[in-house]
Amino acid sequence: MPKRPLIRAPRVTKAVFPVAGLGTRFLPATKSIPKEILTLVDRPLIQYAIDEARAAGITDFIFVTARGKSALEDYFDRAPELESALRRAGKRDLLRALAQTDMPSGAIAYVRQNRPLGLGHAVWCARHLVGDEPFAVILPDDVIAAETPCLRQMVEAHAETRGNMVATMEVAPAQVSSYGILDAAPVQGKGRLVQARGMVEKPRPEAAPSTLAVIGRYILEPEVMGLLGRIGRGAGREVQLTDAIARRIAEGGAVWGYRFEGERFDCGSKAGFLRATVAFALARADLRDDLAAYLQTLTRTRLAAE
Ligand code: UTP
Repeated sequence: MPKRPLIRAPRVTKAVFPVAGLGTRFLPATKSIPKEILTLVDRPLIQYAIDEARAAGITDFIFVTARGKSALEDYFDRAPELESALRRAGKRDLLRALAQTDMPSGAIAYVRQNRPLGLGHAVWCARHLVGDEPFAVILPDDVIAAETPCLRQMVEAHAETRGNMVATMEVAPAQVSSYGILDAAPVQGKGRLVQARGMVEKPRPEAAPSTLAVIGRYILEPEVMGLLGRIGRGAGREVQLTDAIARRIAEGGAVWGYRFEGERFDCGSKAGFLRATVAFALARADLRDDLAAYLQTLTRTRLAAE
């Protein structure tokens, strides 16, 4: 009997990191430091994002940057003087920490967004580097703590579904106006997947089709790039990625929501960043006991004062 050809879903090997935003919620710090260099314990946000991408099998990293973001480029460069000083001093653990920032030559490409016209516009700026392949998008200010890294969960699911996929999670009804919200139905036998019928950017709670919010991880078909170039500006006078994905659904393209396993921290907000700092520090054996004792004392003192 002739063998049927094995048609594999194209592997997702490229990821776009839009890091050209102004980061106004962290001013004045972000006047001279990119938001993505802000540090959770001892690693900048961008390190968490790159590690998650590597764990998902990404080999091509595309940064969409802007003026004032050169610290990001320096972060992934070799630092020969620092390395030799650490080697001479026998600081092997610090050399190991530094090795996390090593990226193979040519693995990272930088493109510029000349004006901050929104997330959708930033992704579109990467179109020539993405080419005709499915690609991932990671927003570094959404940090997700998970046993299996979030993008890896999605890449595995995407190998079955193909099409477009967005990470999603339930939020409180009062919070829907801060997110892109899915109009979606669960799919029998598909576990964590929902199939999107539509998507709205920052709806009023009474107009929201669900409480399933889109979180900063996407796997997109190259067709979305074409749509981003055509849709024009939407909410907040910005080119919205949500609008292009919604258009893709309207055209009949498949869009899946993936309810990831893990805890997401909104590190684009001060409250979320502080929570993440505490959670990541408490997860560290070298910091846990000291910090937990301090938090207990602080809570007791506050309760006593009330
Ligand atoms: P945000 O909505 O968090 O905007 O962008 P922001 O500028 O980073 O921060 P605030 O709201 O002023 O504090 C979400 C993601 O989209 C990127 C950001 O860098 C962030 O990763 N982005 C946003 C761009 O790359 N370009 C843009 O024009 C807008």
